[in-house]
Amino acid sequence: MNFNINKIPSQKGKTAIVTGANVGLGFETTIGLAKKHMHVVMACRNIKKAQKAKDTIKKILPTASLEIMILDLNSLKSVRDFAAEFSKNHQQLHLLINNAGIMIPPFNKTEEGFESQMGVNHFAHFLLSGLLLPILESTEGSRVISLSSIAHKNAKINFENLNSEKSYSKMEAYGQSKLACLMFAYELDKRLKAKGSSVKSIAAHPGVSDTDLGRHVSKWLYALMRPIVKLISHKPEDAAMPSLFAALDKDLLGGEYIGPTGFNEMKGKPGIVKSTPLSHDTQIAKQLWEVSEKLTNFKYL
Ligand SMILES: NC(=O)c1ccc[n+]([C@@H]2O[C@H](COP(=O)([O-])OP(=O)(O)OC[C@H]3O[C@@H](n4cnc5c(N)ncnc54)[C@H](OP(=O)(O)O)[C@@H]3O)[C@@H](O)[C@H]2O)c1
Repeated sequence: MNFNINKIPSQKGKTAIVTGANVGLGFETTIGLAKKHMHVVMACRNIKKAQKAKDTIKKILPTASLEIMILDLNSLKSVRDFAAEFSKNHQQLHLLINNAGIMIPPFNKTEEGFESQMGVNHFAHFLLSGLLLPILESTEGSRVISLSSIAHKNAKINFENLNSEKSYSKMEAYGQSKLACLMFAYELDKRLKAKGSSVKSIAAHPGVSDTDLGRHVSKWLYALMRPIVKLISHKPEDAAMPSLFAALDKDLLGGEYIGPTGFNEMKGKPGIVKSTPLSHDTQIAKQLWEVSEKLTNFKYL
C-alpha cells in the first residue's frame, strides 16, 4: 500500500484535533492536515508556544485554518474541560490525533497521581478519546490515531507497577506507556467494530526523529549519540508521514499500525508495519482498558 500525500484530495470542511501540535511531529502533522484544507485544532498546554507555532504555520500557509485550544494532559480535569469546550463549539470531529507525549523524564506524578509518562501518554488520551467519542460517532468517516513507538517492542504492561508505585525505570515506563497507546488503539478498534460503529482506530509510529522529545536525555549523552541519531533518523516532516497516512489514506480499515518501512522501521516511506505478539494480547488489552476506565473514572464502549 503506497501513500503519496500529494495524491490526497482536499479535506475542506473537515475538522481535526492534534494534541501537542506546537512542536515536532504534532507541528508537522498540523501542517500536513492544514495543507489539505482541514480545520486543525491545536491542542496544546502552553498558549505562548502554541501561538508561536500557529504564527509560523500561517507564514508558510496563510490560508491555514487553525484554532488553539488549551489541553494539559497532566490533568484529567483539563482533559474534561477541553472535551466539553470542543463539543460545545463544534458539530463534527473527523480526526483525533493522540500525538502529544513525553519521554524519560525524572520521576513525576500527574495531578491525579499517575506516573507522568503513563498519565500523559496513555491515561489522558484514553479519557480524551472516550469523551470525544459521541462527536466522533456522529461524524461520517472519523478516525482516532494513536502514537506508539519502536520502544513498544521491548516493553510490557506491568499491572503490579503500572504507575511505578514500586520502582521507577524511566525507559521501562516510557516503553510501557507506548505499548499501552498501541494496545489501546487495537482494543478501541475492536470495540468500535463490535458495536458496529463506523469510527476507525489506527496506530502509528514515526520511527526516529530528532525532536524536543529528547529534552530529558542528558547533554553529554546527547552529544555522544548525535552522529548516530543523525544517521538513523529522519526529519520531523518525514517522521509525521505515518500519522498522516493513518489519518488520510482512504483504504485503511481500522486496526492497522503504520510506521516507516526502512531498516528497523527507523525511517523510510510509511506503510503498514507489524507490532510484537504481546501488543496483540487481547487479555492484557482488556485488562488495560478496564484499569484505564477505573483510574480515569470514565467507562465507554
Ligand atoms: N521523535 C521520535 O523519535 C519519536 C519516536 C517514537 C514515538 N514518538 C512519539 O511521537 C509523539 C510526538 O513526539 P515528538 O517527537 O514530536 O516530541 P516533542 O517534539 O517533544 O513534542 C511533544 C509534544 O507533546 C506536548 N506535550 C507534552 N506534555 C504535554 C502535556 N502534559 N499536555 C499537552 N501536551 C503535552 C509537547 O508540548 P510542550 O512543547 O509544551 O512540551 C509537544 O507539543 C509522542 O507521542 C512520542 O512518544 C516520537
